[in-house]
Amino acid sequence: MKLKTRLYVTFLCIAALPIVLFILAFIIVGTVMIKLEQTGADSLMELVPGRLMFSLSICIIIIMVLIAMSLTRWIAKGVFYPINEMSIGMKQIAEGNFEYRLAPENVDGDMKELYENFEEMRQRLKENCEGSIENEEKNRELITNISHDLKTPITAIKGYVEGIMDGVADTPEKMDKYIRTIYNKANDMDRLINELTLYSRIDNNRIPYTFLRINISDYFNDCIEDIGVELESKGIELNYSNFVPADTRIIADPEQLKRVINNIISNSVKYMDKEKEKSTIDIRLLDEADAVKVEIEDNGRGIPAKDLPNIFDRFFRSDSSRNSSKGGSGIGLSIVKKIIEDHGGYIYATSKEGEGTCMHFVLRKYEDNANE
Ligand SMILES: Nc1ncnc2c1ncn2[C@@H]1O[C@H](COP(=O)(O)OP(=O)(O)OP(=O)(O)O)[C@@H](O)[C@H]1O
Ligand SMILES: [Mg+2]
Repeated sequence: MKLKTRLYVTFLCIAALPIVLFILAFIIVGTVMIKLEQTGADSLMELVPGRLMFSLSICIIIIMVLIAMSLTRWIAKGVFYPINEMSIGMKQIAEGNFEYRLAPENVDGDMKELYENFEEMRQRLKENCEGSIENEEKNRELITNISHDLKTPITAIKGYVEGIMDGVADTPEKMDKYIRTIYNKANDMDRLINELTLYSRIDNNRIPYTFLRINISDYFNDCIEDIGVELESKGIELNYSNFVPADTRIIADPEQLKRVINNIISNSVKYMDKEKEKSTIDIRLLDEADAVKVEIEDNGRGIPAKDLPNIFDRFFRSDSSRNSSKGGSGIGLSIVKKIIEDHGGYIYATSKEGEGTCMHFVLRKYEDNANE
């Protein structure tokens, strides 16, 4: 019951009850007097009404005290009990215990609303707190990974520089080898720092996308030309098939989309299975109702089923990649995922160990309603 209603009921009881009780008392005394008059008991006439009046007054006072006590208890139960509970709840939250729950089903009226608001606040605070703990953990992990990935080339550079200073590189060939290695390691660091900068900019939504309407077939024709030359030089066969209508357009940032394709292709090249007779990469454009699906498939070494759900996570590298000499920091696919999602699309991978990997990403078509 609402607090207001409780107060009105209490007020009415306190104001009206004495009047009702006294009217009742007068009716009783009046009736007794009439009865005595009729029976002609004169001596009793003087005695009984006075006593009756006294007894009735005592009864009325007792009834009123009892009713006042019950009403006070009723109000206290409706107000002080929930306030007390809320005060305990607030204290628990202030101490960082976000599990202390107030049950709105135990109260009614205004207090129910208050409890519900408190519950909402508690849940929001809990989510925020969990979110910041998760972020803190991610940041810690990020710093550990960055330190580790930067330390590896720095240690190598230091080692080779010390070699030169100590005169270990005593022939022009050795010197050339050392300097080349230092150069390559410095390049690795440069690439890693660039990727990290890009990732943090993408993560904080600080990449200003330049979205354009692009014809997907024209765009991929140009891409395939560039990629084809590079793959050919590496002895990888590129097969391209396009199943989308020639006039299909999408809204995309051409530069960032190129980054997506390059990252996926560079993984396919990096994780090719050297044992296989022929290395191939297939690129397919498929037509879906209101979207275009791009599939990039390789016949490389594949990804173990247990790793597949994690490959788009920042800094994830499968054990075999970590243990191989192939460089990388596990950022590539997390950038790819972020860019595709910023385009309103989605990406997933299918893979079979030993057979190959296929990356599927879907981009929405641009529907030209105005028929310009
Ligand atoms: N085509 C592929 N074939 C086999 N494994 C792959 C393929 N693509 C990705 N992976 C696996 O997924 C992991 C994550 O890929 P991702 O591109 O994010 O990182 P990376 O290639 O290791 O490093 P980076 O791209 O930052 O240089 C890789 O380490 C590899 O284990
Ligand atoms: Mg990669």
